Amino acid sequence: MNNFIQNLPKAELHLHIEGTLEPELMFKLAHKNDVILPYKTIQEVRDAYNFSSLQSFLDLYYAGASVLIEESDFFELTWAYLQKCKEQTILHVEIFFDPQTHTKRGIAFETVLKGIVKALQKGKKELGISSFLIMCFLRHLSEEEAFKTLQESLAFKHHIIGVGLDSSEVGHPPSKFERVFKMARQEGYKVVAHAGEEGDNSYIWEAIKLLHVNRIDHGIRCDEDATLVDFLVQKQIPLTVCPLSNVKLKAVLNMPKHNILSLLKQGVLVTVNSDDPAYFGGYLNENYAALKEHLNASKKELTTLAKNSFQASFLSENEKQHYL
Ligand code: HPA
Ligand code: ZN
Repeated sequence: MNNFIQNLPKAELHLHIEGTLEPELMFKLAHKNDVILPYKTIQEVRDAYNFSSLQSFLDLYYAGASVLIEESDFFELTWAYLQKCKEQTILHVEIFFDPQTHTKRGIAFETVLKGIVKALQKGKKELGISSFLIMCFLRHLSEEEAFKTLQESLAFKHHIIGVGLDSSEVGHPPSKFERVFKMARQEGYKVVAHAGEEGDNSYIWEAIKLLHVNRIDHGIRCDEDATLVDFLVQKQIPLTVCPLSNVKLKAVLNMPKHNILSLLKQGVLVTVNSDDPAYFGGYLNENYAALKEHLNASKKELTTLAKNSFQASFLSENEKQHYL
């Protein structure tokens, strides 16, 4: 790995903890928990990671998550990711989790949350990594189910900084969750939403105008509308972009065609993130390295992207200054 990228202090703001489940841990937990996987070998799992769209990935991602049963499984998953952060000079993380993926299978909200939180607390203490947790609603499920999840989260509000929106985008616009997000904001949660990954720029506008998001996750289709790009620049609404994910899920044809540096040059507050690193072939440093290799990103651009990751974080202004 490039030394410059390796040593650059970074924050990661778009990371689904369920998307850090490496095939080795998937097999280990399947064996422990008596879960039958549709693969015989680790190689078979890796061979299946050939996606044609967001949905083709999500089908595997939800199947993989079925091995997570006990609190210790969620702990082990999160702890493995934090060790990776330590290796990659990631000093601060804002992690997504999808409670409905687990509560739908009969796993208690509390089991999921406690396992993740215990690992985050250990990460702070032993690795010096600061962290926040963001709870995502699955947008292919109903508004009513999202409300139920929001209600359930309130007992654990002190561990959750905000809410997000993920899963199948097209056909499930932000407007579907306008009332849920309103209540979340009233409860004091920060709000983010995946928008403009596969959905067109109207999904980004809705996330801004109807959900009043603090950040947009992905947002790469903003460049379809010059007015929207101007608005993002003017308001400095951050985008958490995930280059390797976008190419793997065919949201972008290939890395040389990725618009992240073009958006950066126009003044958009873009950041680099890994999304679901176990499935997309790279953690955060591999995403930065891809920009260097395929888009000729300069040291100055890579540094700005890393600084943006702190600027766009939910750290206090005081804490941010430490990194800027
Ligand atoms: N998009 C939507 N839902 C997701 C993603 C993503 O990139 N990763 C995990 N769930
Ligand atoms: Zn994502």
